[in-house]
Amino acid sequence: MSAFKDNLLAGKTAFVAGGTSGINLGIAKRYAELGAKVAVAGRNAEKAANAAAEIGRGAIGLSCDVRDYGQIRGALEEAAGQLGPLDIVVSGAAGNFVAPALGMSANGFKTVVDIDLNGTFNVFRACYDLLNRPGASLIAITAGQAVNPAMMQAHVCAAKAGINQLIRVLAMEWGPAGVRVNGISPGPIAGTEGMARLSPTPESDRAITARIPLRRFGEVGEVAESAVFLVSSSAAYVSGTILDCDGGSQLGDARDRDIGGGMS
Ligand code: HXC
Ligand code: NAP
Repeated sequence: MSAFKDNLLAGKTAFVAGGTSGINLGIAKRYAELGAKVAVAGRNAEKAANAAAEIGRGAIGLSCDVRDYGQIRGALEEAAGQLGPLDIVVSGAAGNFVAPALGMSANGFKTVVDIDLNGTFNVFRACYDLLNRPGASLIAITAGQAVNPAMMQAHVCAAKAGINQLIRVLAMEWGPAGVRVNGISPGPIAGTEGMARLSPTPESDRAITARIPLRRFGEVGEVAESAVFLVSSSAAYVSGTILDCDGGSQLGDARDRDIGGGMS
């Protein structure tokens, strides 16, 4: 159940890059439910239009590739032109595939770094002069791979680690203008493309769940609540932080162990 009031984001405008499916679409939907005017963007124009229709409440769907500065700038200008100066910008577009470094071409590695890391720089750099300053709030979607190395994920680990540092640098550089910059690091989230790629079977799901302190995958809606908190006035003095919404996943492997003495 949400702790936030229905009109919390009334009068605010939000742009969600990569908001046409999965976790980011969940964030965009929640912002709209709480009264924000919302734009979502992804490469596929039809998917973007469908996402906007699903969000309703006047949401707009835009097509752009975050790897192309001109395209993302154009989408941000379109959103600000139609909806007004931007109060909230979420950078969540990402790509992933499972492969060892030796099974990855230079272009394969570059592709993921370009979407995730360079894409996040592009989104934030391109939105700056369209922001409602002071008071604007930026969120980048990162992942546990930024901190904990994972085999078969060299590209994602490198890209998301870069995003974590980008968040901190921009929080320092843009804080004086009243712009807060934070990150959310989701854990394994049920029903998403990301988890379908990383955990393709019920067996792999069970193996992952067994290691998570809270013993379950997260829900898209739970990440959305974290994204509401970070842009709300309750987080007015929060900048440069990365909020782990992951059931404790990043703390380490919390599988049951028989260590004697009745503890499990
Ligand atoms: C090895 C692969 C590969 C694979 C693609 N490549 N898939 N290499 N194993 N399984 C290589 C290609 O051969 C090519 O290199 C290069 O990557 C670019 O591939 P394209 O298909 O041309 O790229 P593009 O069309 O831009 O698509 C990008 C993509 C794709 C990342 C490859 O999967 C995509 O669009 N993904 C978006 C959706 C997504 O991934 N969602 C999950 C996000 S979750 P060569 O050398 O042949 O040219 C996430 C994980 C976070 O981010 C952590 C979760 C816990
Ligand atoms: P998803 O459904 O695949 O969403 C990815 C979004 O990004 C889509 O809207 C996609 O639309 C868009 N996109 C991809 N490449 C793009 C590009 N080059 N330019 C513009 N848009 C692009 O993924 P998800 O699993 O929900 O993950 C969402 C975010 O959470 C990602 O940042 C991911 O790294 C992070 N995360 C996910 C999990 C998880 O459990 N799923 C865990 C940790 C972190 P198009 O394909 O139409 O472009």
